[in-house]
Amino acid sequence: MAEHSIPAIGKQNGHPVLMVDGKPFIMLAGEVHNSDSSSPEYMEKIWDIAEELGMNALLLPVTWELVEPEEGSFDFSVPEALIRQARERDMRIGFLWFGSWKNAECMYAPAWVKQDLKRFPRAQIEKGKNKTGRQVSPTIPVKMPYTTLSYLGKETVKADAKAFAAFMGFLKEFDGEAHTVVTVQVENETGLLGAAREVSDEADALFASPVPADFAAYMRSHTDTMTDGIRDAVLSGKESGTWTEVFGGAADELFSAYHTARFVNTVAEAGKAVYPLPMTANCWLDKDGAPGDYPTGGPVSKVHEVWQFCAPCIDVLCPDIYVPQFKEVCDEYTRRGGALCIPECATHSYAAPRLLYTVGHYHTMCYSPFGFDDIGKPFTAVQGFLFGMDVTDPALKTPQDFGEYGTLGKILREMMPMLAEAYGSDRLQALSGETDPMTEHPSGIPFLATPPSMDFGSFTVTVTFKNMMNPRNDGACLCLKVTEEECWVVGNACRLDLRSGRADRPNLDLLSVEEGTFENGKWIPRRRFNGDETAQMMMNAPSVWHIRFFTYE
Ligand code: DGJ
Repeated sequence: MAEHSIPAIGKQNGHPVLMVDGKPFIMLAGEVHNSDSSSPEYMEKIWDIAEELGMNALLLPVTWELVEPEEGSFDFSVPEALIRQARERDMRIGFLWFGSWKNAECMYAPAWVKQDLKRFPRAQIEKGKNKTGRQVSPTIPVKMPYTTLSYLGKETVKADAKAFAAFMGFLKEFDGEAHTVVTVQVENETGLLGAAREVSDEADALFASPVPADFAAYMRSHTDTMTDGIRDAVLSGKESGTWTEVFGGAADELFSAYHTARFVNTVAEAGKAVYPLPMTANCWLDKDGAPGDYPTGGPVSKVHEVWQFCAPCIDVLCPDIYVPQFKEVCDEYTRRGGALCIPECATHSYAAPRLLYTVGHYHTMCYSPFGFDDIGKPFTAVQGFLFGMDVTDPALKTPQDFGEYGTLGKILREMMPMLAEAYGSDRLQALSGETDPMTEHPSGIPFLATPPSMDFGSFTVTVTFKNMMNPRNDGACLCLKVTEEECWVVGNACRLDLRSGRADRPNLDLLSVEEGTFENGKWIPRRRFNGDETAQMMMNAPSVWHIRFFTYE
């Protein structure tokens, strides 16, 4: 790929990667709090924190209300200032277009959109009501006021797409050569709360009309990748007919997904026609809730086939992960072959291990803790509520240590060319205490349990996390194979054991273990490990080791 081609999603070793200036780029990112990027002045200290954490990119909201305060009159001075700040620090940006949707509401629509209820209709979750109470939880008796723009609003999608296209035009003009901006998220956590679908007269009429034939046919021919509930609904429905006839009990949600995804695609398409950066759509997960409990129609895994059909201009569907089932969500969002891109995750003590794990195991395109400037600070009750966090695991309540994240982040940032080159190959692997516990021994005796290992063919790296010598469970370990007898290991709170993987040369001896650091991409060895430090290869602090060894008969 040419040096100056536009950032794009490409493939390396069959694996999807974000290509920037001809090379895979790993977004070691952080997402700022919603209001921070409205002020470049305020952002100065946030950029400083990002640098301390080893980040190479920030995810920054750019809001419809600020860029088009009056219809047709655009102001891109804030995103321009943000791009300049990023360039000064050799950082990249993924902009987040807060347009018609923000967390299933329409708070970032400009005043002229909000005030014109006729031209820009609101979603009705109760017939005839523009704003109404929605039950937040079965255990909370009070209803929260709720409103959002309708996904059927023809003028709304037109106006949103026009504004987005103007924004992409500005990016092309101002950044089309430098490529400081590498991705754009279209809208934020789309979907409808309080009901599985809109119930206006228009929505009811559409819902009672035939399902578009091409969509019905697509769904029937893509049942192999579907989640069970949707597959059952599709297979037991009619081939054509109304939404209920074709999709049975899943009809409401599929109707919402169809219209939401088409809306988002129309916006993305208008932007891509001007400047085709990689575009993403993020998701408030369903957390096993019923439609309406979570933003319904948004890209939760079970409706990915709908989004694939209706939103071809969206390159990656992304989970915002605040739930403890981190690995399950990553597996679900990658099993159809798409790139992993995590625009939001919590800042608890799994934040740094998950960074190592997603780079080393999933070869992620982006990993980005939300409100990263809170790393190191205890959670407030409000954060717990906003993040919807399950705090049954104490490690989820413990804030991520700032220094640990920063050390690991900086190591990965320095190693990026090596890591990116190994994306899509099994030369790069990772394990974590959270997702790869020891396999319990039937006797129940803890030290007989089997720790997980990474298999590199000629050698294996076995990693023990929580054990009698290491009380922490939030360790992680990434290993990059260089040759058959050499590797890099980045890890924390874990113990390593290297063994030969070759039947003909079953023994392995260490030759050298260097602990050190990288400066401007150059390896600076510090301590030469041997003796106690290699008898028990404990990584007690975030570190990178360069290990050489040989195998013999
Ligand atoms: C998810 C949203 O996408 C973010 O913008 C933010 O509101 C967080 N939730 C939590 O506050």
